[in-house]
Amino acid sequence: DKPEQLKPRAPVVTIMGHVDHGKTTLLDVIRKSDVVAGEAGGITQHIGAYTISFPHPERKNELQQITFLDTPGHAAFSAMRARGANVTDIVVLVVAANDGVMPQTLEALSHAQAAKAEIMVAVNKVDHPNANPMRVRQQLQEKGLVCEEWGGKTLFVDVSAITKQGVDKLLEAILLQAEIMELKANPDRRAKGNVIESGLEPGGPTATVLVRKGTLHLGDVVICGPFYGKVRALINEENKRLKEAGPSVAVKLLGLNGVPEAGLEFTVEENEKEARDIAEKRTMEARAMGQEARAK
Ligand code: GTP
Ligand code: NA
Ligand code: MG
Repeated sequence: DKPEQLKPRAPVVTIMGHVDHGKTTLLDVIRKSDVVAGEAGGITQHIGAYTISFPHPERKNELQQITFLDTPGHAAFSAMRARGANVTDIVVLVVAANDGVMPQTLEALSHAQAAKAEIMVAVNKVDHPNANPMRVRQQLQEKGLVCEEWGGKTLFVDVSAITKQGVDKLLEAILLQAEIMELKANPDRRAKGNVIESGLEPGGPTATVLVRKGTLHLGDVVICGPFYGKVRALINEENKRLKEAGPSVAVKLLGLNGVPEAGLEFTVEENEKEARDIAEKRTMEARAMGQEARAK
């Protein structure tokens, strides 16, 4: 075996925070600042993961990528949120400046800390008449997140997803943080990653996956939990069909024979027979475990 060749990869950023603090709205604003998307224009439909490209804040002729993951704010999704944090490099903790720190803010913070992600705080809704961004800093200081202005290490950026103020600054901060982290992966191996969200569309089961290692190609045989299939299409958030997706890229995959649960890992197998054998074994194991659980 030749040693793995690690190459720079884009940061994976998960947006977390309390319900209704503006995670999705902020992600929609960021998505529209994508230079490529900006040209295409059009309506933004909500998606839970996407990769954007835009100019580096200092080296303007250099395109930089960031992959963003959204997390549902409801308590029922906390398990998935925990998984989300495990695939993430940077967590942007969104706290609404009018509400301040809430129970799920702290829950998200502990997930981010457990996952050893770099944490940044986006103090959102600073346009709100009751906004109090200093109170958010105080509340989080009590939890050990001290802002840079007060001598700490955590970057706080005041933003508004409505007026768009501070959003550029947030993106710059993410890129600079990512540079410090020197994120790398080997693109020249069979792909491996996780399902971020999934669904059943008229064209069949879809899974938005985050590639963590290797490169996923059209025609690859993917196995994911009890499901498998040949990659029929890879579609980005612009609805463009890609031939491949490398490390840190989020892409919608078509070709699986079922809808995999969010969080599941996918791998690429040698051939369809091998994948089918593994998938059948997993299905049988799941069935046996179900029977055992019912017998108790
Ligand atoms: P969940 O996914 O349900 O947890 O919510 P979320 O965090 O994704 O919040 P969402 O983006 O759905 O926004 C919740 C509400 O806050 C919406 O009515 C938004 O319009 C509003 N909102 C989001 N950002 C801002 C902001 O910067 N300022 C103001 N005033 N309102 C905002
Ligand atoms: Na909401
Ligand atoms: Mg949301």
